[in-house]
Amino acid sequence: MSENEDKSKEKETGFIGSIRRLSRRFSGTLLNVDSKAGPHMVHSGRKTIYSYDDEEQLRIGGVSAEELIEKYGTPLYVYDVNRLTDNYNVYLGSLKSIKNFMLCYAVKANPNLALIDIFARLGCGFDVVSGGELSRCLSVGVDPSKIVYSGCGKSIEEIDYAVRSEIHCINVESWLELERIEDRARTHNKTQNVSIRINPDVNLEGSSHHKFGVPIHEAPEIFNRAKASAHLKVKGISCHLGSGIHQLEPFIEARDKLLSLADELRQENRIWIEHINLGGGFAAQIATNLNVPDIPGWVEKLAKPITDRGLKLVLEPGRSLMADAGLLLTKIEYVKRFGSCGSGTSSPRSGSLAGPPTTPTSKTPIAPKAFVIVDTGFNDFARTALYGQQHKLIPTNAKVDNLPGLPMDYKYDIVGPICESTDIFFKDLILSQKLEPNSALAICDVGAYGMSMSSNYNSRNRPAEVLISDGPTHTLIRERESYEEQYAKERIATDINLRALEMLEEFASREDLAQNDEQNGSQ
Ligand code: LLP
Repeated sequence: MSENEDKSKEKETGFIGSIRRLSRRFSGTLLNVDSKAGPHMVHSGRKTIYSYDDEEQLRIGGVSAEELIEKYGTPLYVYDVNRLTDNYNVYLGSLKSIKNFMLCYAVKANPNLALIDIFARLGCGFDVVSGGELSRCLSVGVDPSKIVYSGCGKSIEEIDYAVRSEIHCINVESWLELERIEDRARTHNKTQNVSIRINPDVNLEGSSHHKFGVPIHEAPEIFNRAKASAHLKVKGISCHLGSGIHQLEPFIEARDKLLSLADELRQENRIWIEHINLGGGFAAQIATNLNVPDIPGWVEKLAKPITDRGLKLVLEPGRSLMADAGLLLTKIEYVKRFGSCGSGTSSPRSGSLAGPPTTPTSKTPIAPKAFVIVDTGFNDFARTALYGQQHKLIPTNAKVDNLPGLPMDYKYDIVGPICESTDIFFKDLILSQKLEPNSALAICDVGAYGMSMSSNYNSRNRPAEVLISDGPTHTLIRERESYEEQYAKERIATDINLRALEMLEEFASREDLAQNDEQNGSQ
């Protein structure tokens, strides 16, 4: 940083200034790994939660990746509390001047109790989409009046739970759901706050024919229906356009449609709503997203016409709060390079890229290709397999070996151990790092929709999760699962009548008979 830059940074005053200063303090060193990495390891020039020390070893929020791996093993999700706080403060900084707002963390992005607790302590509200998410929030003492409930398929049990818990608002997605909520509120002798989710049908791919919300032209009727009920109280109008959106325009378009509806409801139906909920969906700084939202600018632009009318702005961000706060550490199990069959010294043990390029023969594949097999599968991190989203990969040891004889077109796929070819994290990566078995990589920007979408597919234990905070210190916030925990709820069906067994017995006795007949015949 130059001296001038330093001075201008010092001048930053007020709330935003202190947030920016905080943000710089906690964001780790800006490290451009481009020079060390191959052309696919592009760095967008943003601050990251990781840096490399003088020994070129990866540190996450100041903690050595090697130390974390040694203590907790891999695959390991690592979150930096300062980054999620910074992300939250960016929203808060722009909303503070607006005052009339409610910021609700979309729990689905990452529902770990420790994270919910941190967001709650920061004063954040929550957007939940299931009884399970609601239970998580309540279990750590979240104030129910700070919870909104979204989702298009709420069950009776889930609605009961929300009504009994007296949460702030249920975002209603259909006429039938409204009637179900009214019925359950009546049963519990309560009045339930509701917001109706509209599909604003904005200019965004796939937005007009999805299953969410109600068409805007049907909205007045459903609002009238809610107004007429003694057990429902109309609070607001909601929408959620989608996720990972890079442009502001669809949000503006949606907001304006919701505001026109609010005007219409007031003038023609005498319904006064209190809030406009624009949902979540702001893209996050995932490595490949170079065009990231200017959140303070976006929020200010979106909020003004809402708050000018005396309405509250509700937002439900998930990804933009959590994505770049998380890394997934993974160990390399094998480097598998075609044309390196056999073992011992005659063939490269590790695919270390040393040695002359293999000359294609009828037995070797046409393109030089290798696979780096890591111990993380798509059960641990599903976004690449599911959406094709490649996340940046960095080595935990960035020492560059100058590798002679590296064919420039030698391409590596970074793949997992799962028995499916979609178990891939990066395709055709051109490497200049020397990757060895037992060395490790980090998959970047996986704090949102990483662990929350993990599964036990292939009966694999789900990863552990660790939180880095000042000190720097690290705290285990979710233990690695054990095999026994995976099947603890399963039961052997000892009492059932296995018809197949009877059939087997029958076959066996028929075979015996046939053999007897044969023997008798040959006598
Ligand atoms: N509000 C509602 C009603 C939502 O459906 C969602 C996300 C959010 C808020 C939060 O959106 P965000 O700010 O995180 O974009 N698994 C996908 C993302 C699915 C998002 C679904 N809804 C992925 O990994 O990209």
